[in-house]
Amino acid sequence: MHITVRRTEPDAAVAASVLADLPEGYVLPHAVADYQAAATHMVTYHAVAEDAEVVGVLLLEPHFRESVEVYLMAVRSAYLRQGIGRRLLAAVEGDARAFGTRLIQAKTLGPSHPDPRYAATRAFYDEMGFLPVEEIHGLWPDKPALLMVRVL
Ligand SMILES: CC(C)(COP(=O)(O)OP(=O)(O)OC[C@H]1O[C@@H](n2cnc3c(N)ncnc32)[C@H](O)[C@@H]1OP(=O)(O)O)[C@@H](O)C(=O)NCCC(=O)NCCS
Repeated sequence: MHITVRRTEPDAAVAASVLADLPEGYVLPHAVADYQAAATHMVTYHAVAEDAEVVGVLLLEPHFRESVEVYLMAVRSAYLRQGIGRRLLAAVEGDARAFGTRLIQAKTLGPSHPDPRYAATRAFYDEMGFLPVEEIHGLWPDKPALLMVRVL
């Protein structure tokens, strides 16, 4: 399987298609609207298969020159655990370093919430070198958010 990762123009339809491919219940209904809005304008990276299907998407929100946020990452179910998430982040990190960015943050469901799927997401970010900073209550409706950062 040959996968190409590239920065590209925002494409809300593609982001919606990849999000729709996640297992039921992964994305909360209120978050779908947020992601859809973000996908129309945020810095966008796609992982593209040989047949041109976009199999992974990453949306990046630059907050300051020094720090950016991985706002959304998603890989289609059939392509999980094949290194695509790792490659999407590597592309972001390469560009961020070249721009002088020092910090990448991501927010995901906090460890006090029992959902095992997000334990897997935290394991992914942990493996990518992100450190847990703080579990934040009140940022999202009814769910704890975990702020994670990676220093470049
Ligand atoms: C998180 C996500 C983007 C990771 O994408 P991926 O392409 O499957 O990740 P990779 O194959 O690059 O994984 C890299 C490493 O992270 C860790 N990892 C990834 N998925 C994991 C899981 N389910 N359980 C434990 N560790 C995991 C592993 O160490 C893995 O390396 P290995 O496969 O050699 O053991 C993907 O699981 C996903 O789309 N999840 C649903 C949406 C989501 O949670 N997005 C993030 C919040 S915005």
